[in-house]
Amino acid sequence: MEIRRSTASDNADILNIHTHAFGEKNGLGIADLVSGLLGDKTALPLLSLVAVDNTETMGHILFTKAKVTRTTESVSAQILAPLAILPDCQSKGIGGQLIKEGLIQLKDSGVELVFVLGHPDYYPRSGFNPAGVLGYEAPYNIPEEHADAWMVQALCAGIIGKVQGKVACSDVLSQPQHWRE
Ligand SMILES: CC(C)(COP(=O)(O)OP(=O)(O)OC[C@H]1O[C@@H](n2cnc3c(N)ncnc32)[C@H](O)[C@@H]1OP(=O)(O)O)[C@@H](O)C(=O)NCCC(=O)NCCS
Repeated sequence: MEIRRSTASDNADILNIHTHAFGEKNGLGIADLVSGLLGDKTALPLLSLVAVDNTETMGHILFTKAKVTRTTESVSAQILAPLAILPDCQSKGIGGQLIKEGLIQLKDSGVELVFVLGHPDYYPRSGFNPAGVLGYEAPYNIPEEHADAWMVQALCAGIIGKVQGKVACSDVLSQPQHWRE
């Protein structure tokens, strides 16, 4: 398996992955989100990686620009959304490898904080921790029972505790429907 940056020629495969991975109820909506984010200038810089083998594109991960507002400190931040693996290829470690490679590339490019809204039993395996208790408010209010789904990971030492605030994302990801259950 190879993990590489996606190009425009991967877009159809990427949308297919999200449509199938997120299923009948959410698949088309998430594919629409990805399509919007890939064309959203306010999402730049972004990092879009695909996991491919000889025959197919098995997974996709997208990180887009985020900002920490209500702070005087300047911090480079990104948000992970979404991540999907084709149903037949799940539970083989591909999701974990895409996250790991993405974080390495983001760190190399100077990103200090990475946020994610996702499964609270999955992302901590890759180093994410609940963000609310660390002083990072989500773009929209997260219900108390789902508070642990809003997570952060520092890619450099000393940044958590130094910078706190409300997180803002790109225009497309800021639409409220992406922050509801
Ligand atoms: C969630 C997802 C990205 C994980 O990718 P993956 O390649 O299957 O995961 P990995 O192989 O890296 O890790 C597998 C482990 O994660 C666990 N896992 C998978 N989905 C999980 C979830 N929603 N919540 C908690 N754990 C989950 C598996 O049970 C497995 O555990 P095990 O190692 O103890 O057997 C993938 O299952 C997927 O595309 N799901 C549908 C879309 C989705 O929910 N995306 C995430 C949005 S936040």
